[in-house]
Amino acid sequence: MAAASRGRTRLIREIIADIKRTLPGFPVGAKFSFYSISNQEALALMQGRDEEKIPEIEFYAAEECAEICRLLQDSGLDFIEILGDHSSLERGAAASSCYLALAQAARRRCTLPIILTGGNSDPAEMNRILQNDGIEFFGLSRELIREPNLPSRWASGDLTRAACIHCDGCYETPGHVCRFA
Ligand SMILES: Cc1cc2nc3c(=O)[nH]c(=O)nc-3n(C[C@H](O)[C@H](O)[C@H](O)COP(=O)(O)O)c2cc1C
Ligand code: SF4
Repeated sequence: MAAASRGRTRLIREIIADIKRTLPGFPVGAKFSFYSISNQEALALMQGRDEEKIPEIEFYAAEECAEICRLLQDSGLDFIEILGDHSSLERGAAASSCYLALAQAARRRCTLPIILTGGNSDPAEMNRILQNDGIEFFGLSRELIREPNLPSRWASGDLTRAACIHCDGCYETPGHVCRFA
């Protein structure tokens, strides 16, 4: 896997290294959608084949993410935003920091500041992640489309979940406003 990850990231590693050579003090970050898979998707994909393989698939998704983060750090990257591949994990009202496993795997392998993105809806869980998982930042997109004042709401002490139900309606609306606006 290490050789494959090295080959697949060669272009981006060369770009990062060139930027850092040309502008040594310039911070360079990257947003990366890593492969992720839910059990249900794995089952569908495998069409009833060996279910015991599913944890292995998830393991390799996280391991690959971690290996790529390590390689990018070695190239000089300053921070990374980690998310998955817009899988079903990211849909529905219950979606909640759904790519944490990827970020946890990356944290074990590299010291890059990590932004975790995807379904960050529950401030209590986000606080737990900040305290326990060494993840420094969160990226929010649809949650802020639905509630532009969400950070100030949470900061003011109203810690109810983000109202976004992750239906992806805002991909289709003119101006990408929330379909419930
Ligand atoms: C309308 C819309 C447009 C988006 N456009 C981009 C984009 O151009 N580039 C990108 O990397 N991500 C884009 N995203 C993905 C978000 O940045 C984010 O990674 C994703 O929605 C998961 O985070 P969330 O659960 O907080 O929404 C877009 C998302 C939405 C809803
Ligand atoms: S349309 Fe609204 S509720 Fe649905 S994902 Fe977009 S912001 Fe969230």
